[in-house]
Amino acid sequence: MKLWGGRFKKGTDELVNDFNSSINIDSRMYKEDIEGSLAHASMLGEKQIIPKEASERITSGLLEILKRMDNGVIEIDSTSEDIHSFIESTLTYYIGDYGKMLHTARSRNDQVTLDLRLYLKKALVNLKHDVLNLEEVLLEKSTENIETIMPGYTHMQKAQPITFAHHLLAYAEMFKRDIGRIDDTYKRTDEMPLGSGALATSTYPIDRNLVAKNLGFSKITLNSLDSVSDRDYVIEALSTLSLIMMHLSRFSEEIILWCTGEFSFIELDDAYSTGSSIMPQKKNPDVAELVRGKTGRVYGDLITLLTVMKGIPLAYNKDMQEDKEALFDALDTVTLSLKTFTGMLKTMKVKKDNMKKSAALGFTNATDVADYLVKKGIAFRNAHEIVGEIVLECIKKNKMIEELTLDELKTFSPIFDEDVYKAIDLSTCVEERNVIGGPSTQSVKLQINELDKFINSMKEND
Ligand code: ARG
Repeated sequence: MKLWGGRFKKGTDELVNDFNSSINIDSRMYKEDIEGSLAHASMLGEKQIIPKEASERITSGLLEILKRMDNGVIEIDSTSEDIHSFIESTLTYYIGDYGKMLHTARSRNDQVTLDLRLYLKKALVNLKHDVLNLEEVLLEKSTENIETIMPGYTHMQKAQPITFAHHLLAYAEMFKRDIGRIDDTYKRTDEMPLGSGALATSTYPIDRNLVAKNLGFSKITLNSLDSVSDRDYVIEALSTLSLIMMHLSRFSEEIILWCTGEFSFIELDDAYSTGSSIMPQKKNPDVAELVRGKTGRVYGDLITLLTVMKGIPLAYNKDMQEDKEALFDALDTVTLSLKTFTGMLKTMKVKKDNMKKSAALGFTNATDVADYLVKKGIAFRNAHEIVGEIVLECIKKNKMIEELTLDELKTFSPIFDEDVYKAIDLSTCVEERNVIGGPSTQSVKLQINELDKFINSMKEND
């Protein structure tokens, strides 16, 4: 049954019915729709806009519907226009004419954005948990790898030695910022729009603050036109989700590289890998590849809504119905990606020896040889030149710098002494970078400590 049949002489074309309907997407907000209606009905009763008896009957009717929808006794009718119409008509079917009073002083325009805000608030809390779980695994893996030396890269060329903990903690920082963005998004989602009506509020003495309080919103929206046509909070959520995916995707790319025979820095657990139908030797990092691929999908959801919104005059227009499909798709994709990625990371095996060997083979201590000369009085630019020549010689002889004898080194600069070998040992290179943010044990322990504090403070605020 249509909520708006009165004005029409003819039924809707079947195709238009399908085209117009959003129930297959928005039915997942049935709980939030009922929550919103419960708060609305109770306010209407409180303010004597509808009789107390009506408000009570609506409340018990809605609670019954909620129970029956939860346990699957009521099946959602997919021919309904949307979840709002479905629940309202089910209510009237259950309690009779009192059900027809529920929509007093309300429009689907303020109702739908209320429901979506309620839904998104819960989803953001869950999303934050999922990111925090990933942070916990990063904390655990970093703690296990404080001394695991690996090559750090720039331009995908071996650059300077770092540790695996240092590398993982870089991602921990990204996810800390993501959690900050989830909190920010939550703040702006946490505004109550009901009472804005179709666009210009209503003539009834409604109490919007009471509804906000009952629904746990920290404030109400201020302008009714904006309230019904604002989807910034959805776009903000999609942009937060896109950044999370961007971080997961970069991480995935590294995981994929590290799994190759060429790198062989890690091995993924069998439970998080897949095989090939033709090549028996293969063990593929499909999870990481899928996360990388699904990132495109989430960006698509963001661009969808930015584009949908860009030409819409005030106030509500039906274009905006497209918001939910994009948001739900992004939320589902990111949630599944985060959970799977976290499990994959937790169970991966770190091949510490291979990482160390790789760091030793790429002249990653060349900067330290130059620094050694500088500390003995040579200007950095000259030291850089000398070490460049040493590297060239090493490439020719197929040797590491530390494999050259002191006499050989002295042919490049008489300043070299026996202490050079200790100074350019990879663990010295790491430990000497003892600046805040660096790879030394002390610096990494500080980063780990901060991460631990961050996780605990987030859990306390929960
Ligand atoms: N299903 C609609 C949506 O998701 C609900 C609002 C409809 N309002 C209207 N005036 N047709 O946006």
